[in-house]
Order: sequence, then structure tokens, then C-alpha cells
Amino acid sequence: MELLRDADIDPSPLAGKRVAILGYGNQGRAQSLNLHDSGIDVVVGLRGGSGSANEAEAAGLRIALLDEAVGSADVVMMLAPDEIQGALYREIEPQLRQGAALGFSHGLSVRFGLVAPRADLDVFLVAPKGPGTALRSLYQAGKGMIGLWAVAQDATGDARGIALAYGRAIGCARAGLIASTFAEEAEADLFNEQAVVWGGVPELLIAGFDTLVAGGVAPEVALLECVGELKLIADLIDERGIAGMREVISNTAELGAMLGGTRIVDAGVRARMAEVLAEVRAGRFAEALQREEASGYQRLETAREQARATLLEQTFRRLKDLGG
Ligand SMILES: NC(=O)c1ccc[n+]([C@@H]2O[C@H](COP(=O)([O-])OP(=O)(O)OC[C@H]3O[C@@H](n4cnc5c(N)ncnc54)[C@H](OP(=O)(O)O)[C@@H]3O)[C@@H](O)[C@H]2O)c1
Repeated sequence: MELLRDADIDPSPLAGKRVAILGYGNQGRAQSLNLHDSGIDVVVGLRGGSGSANEAEAAGLRIALLDEAVGSADVVMMLAPDEIQGALYREIEPQLRQGAALGFSHGLSVRFGLVAPRADLDVFLVAPKGPGTALRSLYQAGKGMIGLWAVAQDATGDARGIALAYGRAIGCARAGLIASTFAEEAEADLFNEQAVVWGGVPELLIAGFDTLVAGGVAPEVALLECVGELKLIADLIDERGIAGMREVISNTAELGAMLGGTRIVDAGVRARMAEVLAEVRAGRFAEALQREEASGYQRLETAREQARATLLEQTFRRLKDLGG
């Protein structure tokens, strides 16, 4: 594995170039501010009537409508939501300069064909492995967030240099930039979201809470056990790895984890994980995401409402209100 840091990367491919950041949301805000603070000429491209315009201007950034920002830029970064990137690309394609670079922070829209970039463009990926809020706060603290980089199309011969200089300018190379591909980044990210950290873990917490409550345990106690301890184990794993975490917990917890962990996450779970990975690779999730956008996000809205109404959430809010 190749991991590049600031000292390994030539910043000059971005020198004198203008970068247009399309979207001023989670990643757009962090990346434009980090680029600006790294001395890069940045313009934030927004749709007409954007609610983000005032905030971006107040932060000292130049803003422009999408067409104007794209037409003036050497590098265009697609930082609007993934599911609208196909429509957004079709809208801006006529304004993209010949030989410009088109960047992404997630491989999804190129890997699954939502965006089919013109042949004259360089197409690169710089995917910070965490939220924009942390990308910005780490940068401001003189640190960085690890990221993946890749090139899908090298029309000018400069795509690699631009990708690395971009990753350096947003601070990722302070921690490390790892070479990947659009397919690897997209598939691994979508798999994890469904099967592991964002899909699997919360459902495990909910199932544990429900089981304890059904067994007569007070909701507050069930919540402290099944949800409250997650941050403790996350911090320990972050600092020491999984084996190191196990070494610093009590023998009681360690034996319980050993006997119970593989009983819960058994061969059936692993088989369903493999199914999820195969479905992701076949493009089924990318299709579902586009259907969700087309329906006005109906399933997401319903799921959010249902989640807010559960006993677990009511207990969580009650404990928070009590300062717990
Ligand atoms: N969220 C993360 O932490 C994270 C982490 C790693 C990678 N990524 C990747 O980064 C990219 C951006 O994700 P995000 O979460 O930062 O997005 P986001 O916060 O949802 O993006 C919101 C921004 O997109 C703009 N936007 C929405 N629809 C638009 C449209 N139809 N035309 C033009 N602009 C539109 C919004 O404009 P208005 O201001 O007008 O509403 C807003 O400025 C994605 O590829 C994502 O996978 C995200």
C-alpha cells in the first residue's frame, strides 16, 4: 500500500489554477475553506437562491452561480449529494473547459455510471475518510484526515498530480493519502454503510436494547448498557486496535465478548454481508438511491419519523435532559 504525506507531494499542479467547489454542504464547506487557507484560488458554485450563499460569503469565499463557477475553473469538484450528481453533471458539462479536471469525494457516481465524464477531462477522486466538520477542525488544528485518492481518466497526463496536490491542499496528506480506485472506494464505502458501522452497528444496539427491555430491564439501564458504552469501545479501538481494546477491559468483559460475539455475528451474518457486497457491486444500491431521490426521499422521511418515535429515542432524550 502506498501512503503519501505532504513531503511526498508536489503542490505545483494546482499553482495558478482556479478550483470550483460545487455545493457548500458538509464536504463543500470544509474543502473550500481548507483550499482557501492553503492559498488556492477557490470559487464556490451554487444554484440560484441557495441558502448557503450568505454563509460562504461571510466565511470570506468567492461565490458564483454554477455555470459561471464551472466556466472559470481549471478544476471542478462535485460536492453536491451523490444522487443528484448525474443531473448536475449534465447541467454543467457545456461549461466545463477543454482539458479541465473533474473531482469527486466519493466514487459512486462514476463507478455506477450516474456521471459519464467527457473524454477530454481528467477525472480524479480525493475521498476524506470522515465528515467535513472533522476535515475542517483537523485542518485548523494543524492536523489532517486520512483519505483515498484515485484517477479514473487521465486525459492530459496531469490527473495524478492534480489529485495529489488537491488532497494535500485540503489537509489529507498531513495524515496520509492512500492510492485506491473509484470502484474500490465506492464499493467498500457503500458496503460499510449498509453492513457494518452505519447499518449493522445501530441495529445491533437497538436489538440489544429491545431484548433487555422485553426481559424486564428498565429502559434507562438498557440504554446505558447497549448504547452508552459505544463511545468507550470506539475510543479504545481507535487508540489500540481490537486486540489492544480487549487487553484493557476486565476478564469478565473479555470472556463475555469472546463467547457472545461470534455467537451473534455468526456464519449467517457473514453470508448476508457477502450478499450485500455482491448487491453493491451489481449496482443495486446505486439504483435504490436514485429511486429514493426521484420519490422525494419518501422512505427516508418515514424511517426518520419512525426512529424518532421509539422508546429508545424517548429514553435517550430523557437521559440527555437530565444531563446524562
Ligand atoms: N458528508 C460527508 O461527511 C462525506 C464524507 C466523505 C465524502 N462525502 C462525499 O462528498 C460529496 C458531498 O456530500 P455532502 O454530504 O457534503 O453533501 P451535502 O452536504 O448534502 O451537499 C449539500 C450541498 O449541495 C448543494 N446541492 C444540493 N442539490 C443541488 C442541486 N440540485 N444542484 C446544485 N447544488 C445542489 C446544496 O445546495 P444549497 O446550498 O442550494 O442547498 C448544498 O450546498 C458526496 O459525493 C459524498 O458522498 C461526504
